[in-house]
Amino acid sequence: MSSESSKFTGLVGWVDNRLPVFSYVHKEYGEYPTPRNFNYWWNFGALAMFCLTVMIVSGIFLAMQYQPNTQMAFESIQRIMRDVNYGWLMRYIHMNGASFFFIAVYIHIFRGLYYGSYKSPRELLWMLGVVILLLMMATSFFGYVLPWGQMSFWGATVITNLFSAIPIVGDPIVTWLWGGFAIDNPTLNRFYALHYLLPFVIVGVVGLHVVALHVTGSNNPTGIEPKSSQDTVPFHPYYTLKDSFGLSVFVIIYALIVFYAPESLGEAENYVPANSLQTPAEIVPEWYLLPYYAILRSVPDLLIIDAKLAGIIAMFVSILVLFVLPWLDTSKVRSARYRPTYKKFFWVFVVVCFVLGWVGAHPPNEKVFGLEWLEVIDVGRITTFYYFFHFFVLFPLLGKFEKTKPVPNSITESVLGASATEKV
Ligand code: HEM
Repeated sequence: MSSESSKFTGLVGWVDNRLPVFSYVHKEYGEYPTPRNFNYWWNFGALAMFCLTVMIVSGIFLAMQYQPNTQMAFESIQRIMRDVNYGWLMRYIHMNGASFFFIAVYIHIFRGLYYGSYKSPRELLWMLGVVILLLMMATSFFGYVLPWGQMSFWGATVITNLFSAIPIVGDPIVTWLWGGFAIDNPTLNRFYALHYLLPFVIVGVVGLHVVALHVTGSNNPTGIEPKSSQDTVPFHPYYTLKDSFGLSVFVIIYALIVFYAPESLGEAENYVPANSLQTPAEIVPEWYLLPYYAILRSVPDLLIIDAKLAGIIAMFVSILVLFVLPWLDTSKVRSARYRPTYKKFFWVFVVVCFVLGWVGAHPPNEKVFGLEWLEVIDVGRITTFYYFFHFFVLFPLLGKFEKTKPVPNSITESVLGASATEKV
Protein backbone atom coordinates (compact mmCIF):
# COMPACT_ATOMS: atom_id res chain seq x y z
CA MET A 1 0.00 0.00 0.00
CA SER A 2 1.42 3.39 -1.01
CA SER A 3 1.80 5.84 1.82
CA GLU A 4 -1.04 8.14 0.54
CA SER A 5 -3.64 5.64 -0.70
CA SER A 6 -6.67 6.52 1.45
CA LYS A 7 -9.92 7.44 -0.29
CA PHE A 8 -10.28 10.26 2.24
CA THR A 9 -8.76 13.72 1.78
CA GLY A 10 -7.59 16.50 4.08
CA LEU A 11 -6.91 15.81 7.73
CA VAL A 12 -9.06 12.67 7.73
CA GLY A 13 -7.04 11.32 4.76
CA TRP A 14 -3.77 12.18 6.51
CA VAL A 15 -4.80 10.28 9.65
CA ASP A 16 -6.30 7.42 7.65
CA ASN A 17 -3.06 6.88 5.74
CA ARG A 18 -1.26 6.40 9.03
CA LEU A 19 -4.01 4.73 11.07
CA PRO A 20 -6.82 3.44 8.80
CA VAL A 21 -9.66 3.83 11.30
CA PHE A 22 -11.84 5.80 8.89
CA SER A 23 -11.40 3.18 6.14
CA TYR A 24 -12.26 0.52 8.68
CA VAL A 25 -15.47 2.25 9.80
CA HIS A 26 -16.40 2.96 6.17
CA LYS A 27 -15.88 -0.69 5.20
CA GLU A 28 -17.54 -2.27 8.24
CA TYR A 29 -20.37 0.22 8.93
CA GLY A 30 -20.74 2.17 5.67
CA GLU A 31 -20.65 0.02 2.57
CA TYR A 32 -20.88 -3.23 4.58
CA PRO A 33 -23.29 -5.49 2.62
CA THR A 34 -26.24 -6.37 4.88
CA PRO A 35 -29.27 -8.55 4.06
CA ARG A 36 -32.02 -6.34 2.64
CA ASN A 37 -34.82 -7.96 4.65
CA PHE A 38 -33.99 -7.20 8.31
CA ASN A 39 -37.02 -6.61 10.50
CA TYR A 40 -37.01 -4.58 13.72
CA TRP A 41 -35.79 -7.53 15.78
CA TRP A 42 -32.39 -6.85 14.21
CA ASN A 43 -32.24 -3.53 16.09
CA PHE A 44 -31.52 -5.09 19.44
CA GLY A 45 -27.79 -5.70 19.03
CA ALA A 46 -27.29 -1.99 18.41
CA LEU A 47 -29.64 -1.18 21.31
CA ALA A 48 -27.58 -3.41 23.61
CA MET A 49 -24.47 -1.49 22.53
CA PHE A 50 -26.21 1.76 23.38
CA CYS A 51 -27.11 0.42 26.83
CA LEU A 52 -23.56 -0.75 27.48
CA THR A 53 -22.26 2.74 26.69
CA VAL A 54 -24.87 4.43 28.89
CA MET A 55 -24.09 2.06 31.76
CA ILE A 56 -20.36 2.76 31.61
CA VAL A 57 -20.74 6.54 31.36
CA SER A 58 -23.37 6.84 34.13
CA GLY A 59 -21.43 4.32 36.26
CA ILE A 60 -18.24 6.36 36.06
CA PHE A 61 -20.11 9.45 37.30
CA LEU A 62 -21.64 7.46 40.17
CA ALA A 63 -18.21 6.08 41.09
CA MET A 64 -16.99 9.66 41.64
CA GLN A 65 -19.34 9.96 44.64
CA TYR A 66 -19.91 6.39 45.82
CA GLN A 67 -18.04 5.07 48.90
CA PRO A 68 -17.27 1.31 48.86
CA ASN A 69 -17.24 1.00 52.63
CA THR A 70 -19.89 -0.75 54.71
CA GLN A 71 -20.09 2.26 57.06
CA MET A 72 -20.65 4.75 54.25
CA ALA A 73 -22.03 2.98 51.17
CA PHE A 74 -25.75 3.37 51.97
CA GLU A 75 -25.29 6.99 53.05
CA SER A 76 -23.23 7.82 49.98
CA ILE A 77 -26.07 6.62 47.75
CA GLN A 78 -28.53 8.81 49.68
CA ARG A 79 -26.13 11.71 49.22
CA ILE A 80 -25.95 11.07 45.47
CA MET A 81 -29.75 11.06 45.35
CA ARG A 82 -30.25 14.25 47.39
CA ASP A 83 -27.15 16.45 47.42
CA VAL A 84 -25.07 15.76 44.32
CA ASN A 85 -26.10 17.83 41.31
CA TYR A 86 -28.07 15.56 38.98
CA GLY A 87 -26.96 12.61 41.11
CA TRP A 88 -30.54 11.32 41.14
CA LEU A 89 -30.55 11.39 37.36
CA MET A 90 -27.27 9.48 37.06
CA ARG A 91 -28.49 6.89 39.55
CA TYR A 92 -31.89 6.41 37.92
CA ILE A 93 -30.28 6.19 34.48
CA HIS A 94 -27.86 3.54 35.80
CA MET A 95 -30.38 1.58 37.87
CA ASN A 96 -32.99 1.38 35.14
CA GLY A 97 -30.32 1.10 32.46
CA ALA A 98 -29.47 -2.33 33.85
CA SER A 99 -33.08 -3.41 33.30
CA PHE A 100 -33.20 -1.96 29.79
CA PHE A 101 -29.85 -3.58 28.97
CA PHE A 102 -31.27 -6.97 29.95
CA ILE A 103 -34.52 -6.31 28.03
CA ALA A 104 -32.47 -5.53 24.90
CA VAL A 105 -30.20 -8.54 25.34
CA TYR A 106 -33.01 -10.98 26.14
CA ILE A 107 -34.93 -9.90 23.03
CA HIS A 108 -31.64 -10.19 21.09
CA ILE A 109 -31.22 -13.79 22.34
CA PHE A 110 -34.83 -14.79 21.64
CA ARG A 111 -34.48 -13.29 18.16
CA GLY A 112 -31.45 -15.57 17.69
CA LEU A 113 -33.40 -18.58 18.94
CA TYR A 114 -36.33 -17.86 16.62
CA TYR A 115 -34.33 -17.29 13.45
CA GLY A 116 -31.66 -19.92 14.18
CA SER A 117 -28.85 -17.34 14.25
CA TYR A 118 -26.77 -19.65 16.48
CA LYS A 119 -26.48 -22.29 13.76
CA SER A 120 -23.41 -22.87 11.61
CA PRO A 121 -21.42 -20.81 10.66
CA ARG A 122 -22.32 -18.45 13.57
CA GLU A 123 -21.63 -20.83 16.49
CA LEU A 124 -18.70 -18.85 17.83
CA LEU A 125 -20.55 -15.55 17.49
CA TRP A 126 -23.36 -17.06 19.55
CA MET A 127 -20.99 -18.53 22.14
CA LEU A 128 -19.32 -15.15 22.60
CA GLY A 129 -22.85 -13.85 23.22
CA VAL A 130 -23.34 -16.42 25.98
CA VAL A 131 -20.04 -15.29 27.56
CA ILE A 132 -21.39 -11.72 27.48
CA LEU A 133 -24.61 -12.86 29.14
CA LEU A 134 -22.68 -14.53 31.97
CA LEU A 135 -20.53 -11.42 32.43
CA MET A 136 -23.64 -9.25 32.50
CA MET A 137 -25.19 -11.41 35.21
CA ALA A 138 -22.06 -11.24 37.34
CA THR A 139 -21.78 -7.47 36.84
CA SER A 140 -25.40 -6.83 37.78
CA PHE A 141 -25.12 -9.06 40.83
CA PHE A 142 -22.03 -7.17 42.07
CA GLY A 143 -23.72 -3.85 41.31
CA TYR A 144 -26.82 -4.71 43.30
CA VAL A 145 -24.68 -5.28 46.40
CA LEU A 146 -23.14 -1.80 46.28
CA PRO A 147 -26.02 0.31 47.76
CA TRP A 148 -25.68 -1.90 50.85
CA GLY A 149 -29.41 -2.11 51.48
CA GLN A 150 -31.18 -5.12 52.96
CA MET A 151 -31.65 -6.81 49.58
CA SER A 152 -28.02 -6.09 48.64
CA PHE A 153 -26.76 -7.79 51.77
CA TRP A 154 -29.12 -10.73 51.80
CA GLY A 155 -28.94 -11.29 48.06
CA ALA A 156 -25.15 -11.48 48.40
CA THR A 157 -25.57 -13.84 51.37
CA VAL A 158 -27.85 -16.23 49.49
CA ILE A 159 -25.80 -16.30 46.29
CA THR A 160 -22.35 -16.61 47.87
CA ASN A 161 -23.65 -19.27 50.27
CA LEU A 162 -24.71 -21.39 47.30
CA PHE A 163 -21.09 -22.37 46.84
CA SER A 164 -21.08 -24.00 50.27
CA ALA A 165 -23.12 -26.83 48.73
CA ILE A 166 -20.07 -27.99 46.78
CA PRO A 167 -18.69 -31.02 48.64
CA ILE A 168 -15.41 -30.63 50.60
CA VAL A 169 -14.18 -27.36 49.05
CA GLY A 170 -17.52 -25.50 49.38
CA ASP A 171 -16.90 -23.71 52.68
CA PRO A 172 -13.32 -22.63 51.91
CA ILE A 173 -14.58 -21.24 48.59
CA VAL A 174 -17.22 -19.14 50.38
CA THR A 175 -14.63 -17.76 52.83
CA TRP A 176 -12.37 -16.96 49.88
CA LEU A 177 -15.21 -15.17 48.03
CA TRP A 178 -16.06 -13.12 51.12
CA GLY A 179 -12.46 -12.25 51.90
CA GLY A 180 -13.17 -13.15 55.53
CA PHE A 181 -15.57 -15.10 57.71
CA ALA A 182 -18.59 -12.91 56.98
CA ILE A 183 -19.89 -10.58 54.28
CA ASP A 184 -18.13 -7.40 55.29
CA ASN A 185 -15.95 -4.58 54.09
CA PRO A 186 -13.51 -6.72 52.07
CA THR A 187 -16.50 -8.32 50.31
CA LEU A 188 -18.04 -4.97 49.42
CA ASN A 189 -14.66 -3.69 48.25
CA ARG A 190 -13.91 -6.59 45.95
CA PHE A 191 -17.45 -6.57 44.55
CA TYR A 192 -16.98 -2.90 43.76
CA ALA A 193 -13.63 -3.57 42.08
CA LEU A 194 -15.20 -6.32 39.96
CA HIS A 195 -18.29 -4.26 39.20
CA TYR A 196 -16.05 -1.55 37.78
CA LEU A 197 -13.83 -4.00 35.90
CA LEU A 198 -16.29 -6.38 34.24
CA PRO A 199 -18.09 -3.85 31.99
CA PHE A 200 -14.76 -3.22 30.27
CA VAL A 201 -14.28 -6.96 29.84
CA ILE A 202 -17.78 -6.96 28.30
CA VAL A 203 -16.67 -4.20 25.90
CA GLY A 204 -13.76 -6.44 24.83
CA VAL A 205 -15.99 -9.48 24.28
CA VAL A 206 -18.56 -7.36 22.41
CA GLY A 207 -15.67 -6.29 20.15
CA LEU A 208 -14.93 -9.96 19.39
CA HIS A 209 -18.68 -10.61 18.99
CA VAL A 210 -18.90 -7.95 16.28
CA VAL A 211 -15.69 -9.10 14.56
CA ALA A 212 -17.13 -12.63 14.45
CA LEU A 213 -20.39 -11.19 13.07
CA HIS A 214 -18.55 -9.41 10.30
CA VAL A 215 -16.71 -12.59 9.31
CA THR A 216 -19.89 -14.63 8.78
CA GLY A 217 -22.21 -11.73 7.98
CA SER A 218 -25.62 -11.36 9.59
CA ASN A 219 -28.35 -13.93 9.48
CA ASN A 220 -31.76 -12.61 8.40
CA PRO A 221 -35.46 -13.50 8.82
CA THR A 222 -35.38 -16.13 6.07
CA GLY A 223 -32.28 -17.83 7.47
CA ILE A 224 -30.89 -18.08 3.91
CA GLU A 225 -27.42 -16.66 3.19
CA PRO A 226 -27.25 -13.79 0.66
CA LYS A 227 -26.46 -15.23 -2.79
CA SER A 228 -25.94 -12.08 -4.86
CA SER A 229 -25.60 -8.33 -4.47
CA GLN A 230 -29.39 -8.14 -5.00
CA ASP A 231 -29.86 -9.73 -1.60
CA THR A 232 -27.95 -7.05 0.32
CA VAL A 233 -27.95 -3.29 0.84
CA PRO A 234 -25.13 -1.14 2.25
CA PHE A 235 -25.35 -0.83 6.04
CA HIS A 236 -25.37 2.96 5.69
CA PRO A 237 -27.83 4.62 5.23
CA TYR A 238 -30.34 1.76 5.30
CA TYR A 239 -29.63 0.25 8.70
CA THR A 240 -28.06 3.27 10.34
CA LEU A 241 -31.46 4.88 9.79
CA LYS A 242 -33.49 1.87 10.84
CA ASP A 243 -31.34 1.50 13.99
CA SER A 244 -31.71 5.23 14.72
CA PHE A 245 -35.48 4.95 14.55
CA GLY A 246 -35.49 1.90 16.85
CA LEU A 247 -33.12 3.70 19.21
CA SER A 248 -35.44 6.73 19.37
CA VAL A 249 -38.40 4.58 20.40
CA PHE A 250 -36.26 2.69 22.92
CA VAL A 251 -34.90 5.91 24.46
CA ILE A 252 -38.41 7.37 24.78
CA ILE A 253 -39.62 4.33 26.75
CA TYR A 254 -36.41 4.32 28.83
CA ALA A 255 -36.82 8.04 29.59
CA LEU A 256 -40.47 7.54 30.59
CA ILE A 257 -39.36 5.02 33.21
CA VAL A 258 -36.37 7.10 34.39
CA PHE A 259 -38.45 10.26 34.83
CA TYR A 260 -41.91 8.98 35.75
CA ALA A 261 -41.54 5.54 37.35
CA PRO A 262 -37.88 5.20 38.37
CA GLU A 263 -38.56 2.84 41.25
CA SER A 264 -41.07 0.61 39.46
CA LEU A 265 -38.50 -2.09 38.69
CA GLY A 266 -36.72 -1.87 42.04
CA GLU A 267 -37.27 -3.38 45.46
CA ALA A 268 -38.45 -1.14 48.34
CA GLU A 269 -36.60 -3.32 50.87
CA ASN A 270 -33.31 -2.06 49.46
CA TYR A 271 -34.01 1.38 50.92
CA VAL A 272 -33.52 -0.16 54.37
CA PRO A 273 -29.81 -0.20 55.36
CA ALA A 274 -28.18 -3.65 55.45
CA ASN A 275 -28.67 -5.42 58.76
CA SER A 276 -27.03 -8.79 59.30
CA LEU A 277 -29.30 -9.53 62.27
CA GLN A 278 -32.60 -9.13 60.45
CA THR A 279 -33.48 -11.33 57.47
CA PRO A 280 -36.09 -9.82 55.12
CA ALA A 281 -39.36 -11.76 54.79
CA GLU A 282 -38.63 -12.59 51.16
CA ILE A 283 -35.24 -12.42 49.42
CA VAL A 284 -35.70 -11.80 45.72
CA PRO A 285 -33.15 -10.93 43.05
CA GLU A 286 -33.69 -8.32 40.33
CA TRP A 287 -36.39 -9.27 37.77
CA TYR A 288 -33.89 -10.27 35.08
CA LEU A 289 -32.41 -13.01 37.28
CA LEU A 290 -35.74 -14.39 38.53
CA PRO A 291 -36.07 -17.33 36.07
CA TYR A 292 -32.67 -18.70 37.12
CA TYR A 293 -33.57 -18.19 40.77
CA ALA A 294 -36.77 -20.18 40.13
CA ILE A 295 -34.78 -23.04 38.59
CA LEU A 296 -32.37 -22.97 41.55
CA ARG A 297 -35.24 -23.40 44.01
CA SER A 298 -37.37 -25.82 42.01
CA VAL A 299 -35.06 -28.81 41.69
CA PRO A 300 -35.75 -31.57 44.26
CA ASP A 301 -33.24 -34.08 45.67
CA LEU A 302 -31.84 -36.05 42.73
CA LEU A 303 -30.54 -39.52 43.65
CA ILE A 304 -27.44 -38.89 45.80
CA ILE A 305 -27.37 -35.13 45.09
CA ASP A 306 -29.28 -33.03 47.60
CA ALA A 307 -31.71 -30.37 46.40
CA LYS A 308 -29.39 -27.44 47.11
CA LEU A 309 -26.50 -28.75 45.02
CA ALA A 310 -28.86 -30.07 42.34
CA GLY A 311 -30.47 -26.62 42.14
CA ILE A 312 -27.11 -24.92 41.68
CA ILE A 313 -26.09 -27.39 38.97
CA ALA A 314 -29.46 -26.93 37.21
CA MET A 315 -29.13 -23.15 37.39
CA PHE A 316 -25.68 -23.18 35.79
CA VAL A 317 -26.67 -25.77 33.20
CA SER A 318 -29.71 -23.66 32.26
CA ILE A 319 -27.28 -21.06 30.90
CA LEU A 320 -24.35 -23.28 29.89
CA VAL A 321 -26.68 -25.34 27.67
CA LEU A 322 -26.72 -22.33 25.35
CA PHE A 323 -23.05 -23.01 24.56
CA VAL A 324 -23.91 -26.37 22.99
CA LEU A 325 -27.17 -25.30 21.40
CA PRO A 326 -25.67 -25.08 17.88
CA TRP A 327 -24.99 -28.83 18.15
CA LEU A 328 -28.22 -29.80 19.91
CA ASP A 329 -30.29 -28.34 17.08
CA THR A 330 -30.22 -30.87 14.25
CA SER A 331 -32.55 -29.03 11.86
CA LYS A 332 -31.34 -28.29 8.34
CA VAL A 333 -33.64 -25.26 8.19
CA ARG A 334 -32.57 -22.20 10.13
CA SER A 335 -35.50 -19.84 10.49
CA ALA A 336 -38.68 -20.65 12.46
CA ARG A 337 -40.57 -19.08 9.54
CA TYR A 338 -40.23 -22.40 7.74
CA ARG A 339 -40.39 -24.61 10.84
CA PRO A 340 -44.07 -24.71 11.87
CA THR A 341 -43.67 -27.12 14.78
CA TYR A 342 -40.56 -25.44 16.17
CA LYS A 343 -42.36 -22.09 15.95
CA LYS A 344 -45.11 -23.36 18.28
CA PHE A 345 -42.60 -24.75 20.78
CA PHE A 346 -40.63 -21.52 20.61
CA TRP A 347 -43.67 -19.63 21.90
CA VAL A 348 -44.27 -22.27 24.58
CA PHE A 349 -40.66 -21.69 25.65
CA VAL A 350 -41.17 -17.92 25.81
CA VAL A 351 -44.23 -18.41 28.05
CA VAL A 352 -42.29 -20.89 30.22
CA CYS A 353 -39.51 -18.32 30.73
CA PHE A 354 -42.07 -15.72 31.86
CA VAL A 355 -43.71 -18.23 34.21
CA LEU A 356 -40.29 -19.10 35.65
CA GLY A 357 -39.78 -15.38 36.28
CA TRP A 358 -43.10 -15.26 38.12
CA VAL A 359 -42.17 -18.37 40.14
CA GLY A 360 -38.86 -16.76 41.15
CA ALA A 361 -40.70 -13.76 42.56
CA HIS A 362 -43.04 -15.77 44.83
CA PRO A 363 -42.47 -17.87 47.96
CA PRO A 364 -42.30 -21.58 46.98
CA ASN A 365 -45.14 -22.60 49.31
CA GLU A 366 -47.60 -19.92 48.23
CA LYS A 367 -50.86 -21.33 46.81
CA VAL A 368 -51.43 -20.59 43.12
CA PHE A 369 -54.79 -18.83 42.46
CA GLY A 370 -55.81 -19.88 45.99
CA LEU A 371 -55.87 -23.56 44.94
CA GLU A 372 -55.19 -25.98 47.82
CA TRP A 373 -53.42 -28.51 45.58
CA LEU A 374 -51.15 -26.19 43.61
CA GLU A 375 -48.16 -24.38 45.07
CA VAL A 376 -45.65 -22.10 43.38
CA ILE A 377 -42.99 -24.79 43.74
CA ASP A 378 -45.13 -27.22 41.66
CA VAL A 379 -45.37 -24.70 38.83
CA GLY A 380 -41.62 -24.16 39.22
CA ARG A 381 -40.94 -27.89 38.85
CA ILE A 382 -43.11 -28.27 35.75
CA THR A 383 -41.62 -25.24 34.01
CA THR A 384 -38.06 -26.16 35.01
CA PHE A 385 -38.65 -29.60 33.54
CA TYR A 386 -39.94 -28.06 30.32
CA TYR A 387 -36.96 -25.69 30.12
CA PHE A 388 -34.52 -28.60 29.97
CA PHE A 389 -36.84 -30.75 27.87
CA HIS A 390 -36.94 -27.96 25.28
CA PHE A 391 -33.18 -27.90 24.89
CA PHE A 392 -32.14 -31.48 25.48
CA VAL A 393 -35.04 -33.39 23.89
CA LEU A 394 -36.97 -31.12 21.54
CA PHE A 395 -34.05 -29.49 19.74
CA PRO A 396 -32.41 -32.80 18.72
CA LEU A 397 -35.72 -34.52 17.87
CA LEU A 398 -37.50 -31.74 15.99
CA GLY A 399 -34.67 -31.46 13.49
CA LYS A 400 -35.13 -35.13 12.65
CA PHE A 401 -38.92 -35.41 12.56
CA GLU A 402 -40.33 -31.98 11.77
CA LYS A 403 -41.92 -31.40 8.36
CA THR A 404 -40.56 -28.02 7.28
CA LYS A 405 -42.04 -25.59 4.76
CA PRO A 406 -40.31 -24.91 1.43
CA VAL A 407 -37.56 -22.33 1.80
CA PRO A 408 -37.39 -19.59 -0.90
CA ASN A 409 -34.46 -19.63 -3.31
CA SER A 410 -33.11 -16.28 -2.24
CA ILE A 411 -33.68 -13.36 0.10
CA THR A 412 -34.82 -11.21 -2.82
CA GLU A 413 -37.36 -13.85 -3.83
CA SER A 414 -38.74 -13.92 -0.28
CA VAL A 415 -39.14 -10.13 -0.34
CA LEU A 416 -40.38 -9.50 -3.87
CA GLY A 417 -41.77 -12.88 -4.96
CA ALA A 418 -40.24 -15.49 -7.29
CA SER A 419 -40.77 -13.59 -10.55
CA ALA A 420 -39.07 -10.43 -9.29
CA THR A 421 -35.67 -12.07 -8.85
CA GLU A 422 -34.76 -11.80 -12.55
CA LYS A 423 -36.33 -8.34 -13.02
CA VAL A 424 -34.40 -6.49 -10.33
C1 HEM B 1 -23.63 -6.59 25.47
C2 HEM B 1 -24.40 -7.45 24.86
C3 HEM B 1 -24.46 -7.63 23.37
C4 HEM B 1 -24.19 -6.72 22.39
C5 HEM B 1 -23.77 -5.27 22.55
C6 HEM B 1 -24.39 -7.40 21.12
C7 HEM B 1 -24.21 -6.80 19.89
C8 HEM B 1 -24.59 -7.36 18.70
C9 HEM B 1 -24.73 -6.65 17.46
C10 HEM B 1 -24.50 -5.15 17.26
C11 HEM B 1 -25.13 -7.54 16.52
C12 HEM B 1 -25.49 -7.22 15.08
C13 HEM B 1 -26.89 -6.62 15.02
C14 HEM B 1 -27.96 -7.63 15.33
O1 HEM B 1 -27.93 -8.72 14.73
O2 HEM B 1 -28.83 -7.34 16.19
C15 HEM B 1 -25.20 -8.83 17.15
C16 HEM B 1 -25.54 -10.01 16.52
C17 HEM B 1 -25.68 -11.23 17.15
N1 HEM B 1 -25.62 -11.47 18.51
FE1 HEM B 1 -25.18 -10.10 19.92
N2 HEM B 1 -24.76 -8.70 21.34
C18 HEM B 1 -24.82 -8.87 22.72
C19 HEM B 1 -25.19 -10.03 23.37
C20 HEM B 1 -25.50 -11.23 22.75
C21 HEM B 1 -25.90 -12.42 23.43
C22 HEM B 1 -26.05 -12.55 24.94
C23 HEM B 1 -26.10 -13.38 22.48
C24 HEM B 1 -26.51 -14.82 22.62
C25 HEM B 1 -26.41 -15.53 23.67
C26 HEM B 1 -25.84 -12.79 21.19
C27 HEM B 1 -25.91 -13.43 19.97
C28 HEM B 1 -25.84 -12.80 18.74
C29 HEM B 1 -26.02 -13.46 17.46
C30 HEM B 1 -26.28 -14.96 17.23
C31 HEM B 1 -25.92 -12.48 16.48
C32 HEM B 1 -26.07 -12.65 14.97
C33 HEM B 1 -27.50 -12.38 14.68
C34 HEM B 1 -27.86 -12.52 13.25
O3 HEM B 1 -27.02 -12.28 12.40
O4 HEM B 1 -29.01 -12.91 13.04
N3 HEM B 1 -25.48 -11.48 21.40
N4 HEM B 1 -24.89 -8.70 18.49
